[in-house]
Amino acid sequence: MLKVAVLISGNGSNLQAVIDAVDQQNLAIDLHLVVSNNPEAHGLTRAQQANIPTAILNHRLFTTREAYDAALIQLLKAHHVELVVLAGFMRILTPHFVDAFPQRILNIHPSLLPKFRGLNTHQRVLDAGESQHGCTVHYVSHELDAGEIIDSAQCAIEPHDTPESLQAKVHHLEHQLYPKVIAEVAGKLQRAS
Ligand code: GRF
Repeated sequence: MLKVAVLISGNGSNLQAVIDAVDQQNLAIDLHLVVSNNPEAHGLTRAQQANIPTAILNHRLFTTREAYDAALIQLLKAHHVELVVLAGFMRILTPHFVDAFPQRILNIHPSLLPKFRGLNTHQRVLDAGESQHGCTVHYVSHELDAGEIIDSAQCAIEPHDTPESLQAKVHHLEHQLYPKVIAEVAGKLQRAS
């Protein structure tokens, strides 16, 4: 099975959705490693509870972004990782990192890309008076939140919505979408190998 690493920085609810999909056997991957740049990330506890090996690579211990990413590449390659899944990993990746895993890094972003790249998407969507919101899974490229789009899921924005209610709606969509897309990409990579 395809060796997958999930990279997190925080709560890890998307990681949990992937763990659950593997447990329920609708996602046939080897969930091999969870890496966090944040030693306090709750997602680390989720991984440990599911008996998935974890690693902490604290960015504060590195003086440059390049040095951090070189260490991250080394860690993932040492584990023979074949697909890198970003799940709330709050780091901008260097071109060197992206090039180390061509077409093998996925990200989930809380907006309907190409609209609303970057942070604070829920507030920005409301400020812009949009009627639809959602999430997008894309390949990671050199440009932030701009890689090839694989799939998205959407929801309506209602008059009473707030950034918090939109975050909850989008998280719900993410938890359905990400395992589904990971299964598709993993299947494609395995058929090609
Ligand atoms: C998600 O909203 C995802 O779209 C964004 O970061 C958030 C991570 O949430 N990239 P969680 O840590 O998976 O709960």
